[in-house]
Amino acid sequence: MKYSLISVICCFYYLSTLTAGFYLPGVAPSTYGKNDNVPLLVNHITPSSKYENTDSKTFVYSYDYYFPRFHFCQPEGGPKKQSESLGSIIFGDRIFNSPFQINMLVNKTCEKLCTATYSKTDAIFVNRNIRAGFQHNWLIDGLPVARDMFDKKTSTEFYGAGFPIGSVDDSVSHLSNHYELIIEYHQRGENEYRVVGATVNPYSIERTEQDFSCDVADVNAVRLDQSKDTDVVFSYSVVFVPSSTAWATRWDKYLHVYDPKIQWFSLVNFSIIVILLSLIMSHILLKTLRNDIQRYNEVNLDEDIIDEMGWKLVHGDVFRSPKNRMLLSVFVGSGIQIFLMTLVTIFFALLGLLSPSNRGSLGTVMFLLFAVFGSIGSFASAYLYKFFNGDNWKLNMILSPLVVPGALFVCFVLLNFFLIFVHSSGAVPVGTMFAIIFIWFLVNVPLSVAGSLFAYKRPAMKLPVKVNQIPRQIPKQPWYLRTLPLALIAGIFPFGSIAIEMYFIYNSLWFNRIYYMFGFLFFCFILMIVTTVLVTILLIYYTLCNENYKWHWKSFFIGGGVAVYIFIHSILLSRFKLGGFSSFVLYFGYSSIISLLVGIVCGTVGFLGSLLFVLRIYDAIKID
Ligand SMILES: *[C@@H]1O[C@H](CO)[C@@H](O)[C@H](O)[C@H]1NC(C)=O
Repeated sequence: MKYSLISVICCFYYLSTLTAGFYLPGVAPSTYGKNDNVPLLVNHITPSSKYENTDSKTFVYSYDYYFPRFHFCQPEGGPKKQSESLGSIIFGDRIFNSPFQINMLVNKTCEKLCTATYSKTDAIFVNRNIRAGFQHNWLIDGLPVARDMFDKKTSTEFYGAGFPIGSVDDSVSHLSNHYELIIEYHQRGENEYRVVGATVNPYSIERTEQDFSCDVADVNAVRLDQSKDTDVVFSYSVVFVPSSTAWATRWDKYLHVYDPKIQWFSLVNFSIIVILLSLIMSHILLKTLRNDIQRYNEVNLDEDIIDEMGWKLVHGDVFRSPKNRMLLSVFVGSGIQIFLMTLVTIFFALLGLLSPSNRGSLGTVMFLLFAVFGSIGSFASAYLYKFFNGDNWKLNMILSPLVVPGALFVCFVLLNFFLIFVHSSGAVPVGTMFAIIFIWFLVNVPLSVAGSLFAYKRPAMKLPVKVNQIPRQIPKQPWYLRTLPLALIAGIFPFGSIAIEMYFIYNSLWFNRIYYMFGFLFFCFILMIVTTVLVTILLIYYTLCNENYKWHWKSFFIGGGVAVYIFIHSILLSRFKLGGFSSFVLYFGYSSIISLLVGIVCGTVGFLGSLLFVLRIYDAIKID
């Protein structure tokens, strides 16, 4: 009774997070008096996926707002970098101050910022980026400066964070040089105001210093000439409008579910698949297995019936330790570490603890959880290694926190070189790199060693059946029971449950969209894990029935088969329209890393599921 009540409450809570975009405000509100300065900060200039403009290339790296070739106006005394959290830096935020002067409740009609001169080469650069759909990402009082959008499918108005640096008209690029800022405020009391919304209308106005005006009617748009220098005058206006939105709900309009139907559809779809799979599984496990076990145990009593077939035959070999047991233990350890990190991060995010208003909190939490869960990962790795009768536990202790995280770090550093090469702001500064290494050795390594030692002190898991001295001959296996076909078959199911979310995650990674549908993600993640376990166990059962006892790596690869699909999916998502070699390398580099990480997690889950399954079924039969 009590539990059902709790689950009902949880259910409602979950629904409310989905529909209302519920978020605990991440930062304390700022209250401004009349005339107080409201800071406008500028973040990096990010690419976007231009669906409407299909012939343009897509870029996947961003630039600093003050990257010299853009010539955007600088504040007096030069731009100053704002301090940011580690996660915020890793995820690409580069926030600076700006020359905009905004004062609470002071409307401004036409303020000049500066005049910039674009040389031929810079004009080519800026025009290319306008065509590619690069976007400004400004922040007013921590809120992204947005554009008013309308979703035709759901007939709702929402705010799309960021706005393009220019527009394309008849394949001519026009740079926006006048920004009309509309700031919504909420009055709390006598001379107490809070910012609850910020939108912008960008305009492109051709004008000179001499006849300067911000009139947007009947003007020509700015065209950056690619054959001679062009002068562009920048300006802005500010309008304050009252709003009834309370500060606590000011993020709601930004958190727009683009197409909830697709997500519900996929969720329901794959829930059905999981239920079907579970039914098949329970049929096999409960009926076939029980029959098997009954028969096997009877056969032992009645010596006459020599009807020994199937998985019982390999009882003397099924616990024989696999080849490369060190590597398998280390991978499984890392898989557990990444799995726990992902699960807990999504769970925190689901509860609204990692709101987008608290920039970088998601990245920071992920990184710290990854470091902390190193303890459990290394524990599992050492424990498994011991279970495999491994004799070099010290090497295991060293490799556990090094192999996967080390490989990740090396890839990260290599890709960083490409980011530096294209002058992208996404390149992680050297100082941050050292901070990462420092935290790694300060937090992760000691915890990992502790985990390993703890596992080493524990007695090894007991085997339900003894391992024979001499390995059994494995009969010739049908082609479809080889590892590769099995992995390809098995990968479809977990991929199906996560594909839609992958699409949104990629959009948020590459194109700076706010991702917050953690309710969906949580369920899809659970579905993915459950399907992986079920499918892997099923296929391992068939493998064992075919008297093939080498299930360890097989189960890992069967579980990890999803990686292949995730990688192919990433390639398809790019639509082969990446601009330039660096975009190509970065996109494929990060896509491979993501696919491999998902593969390791699912492989681990598949392996652990199979391990429990094998332990269970061989424990149930009598062997003399
Ligand atoms: C600013 O402009 C808006 C829109 O024109 C107007 O509603 C508002 O009253 C103005 N505010 C001030 C303080 O003049």
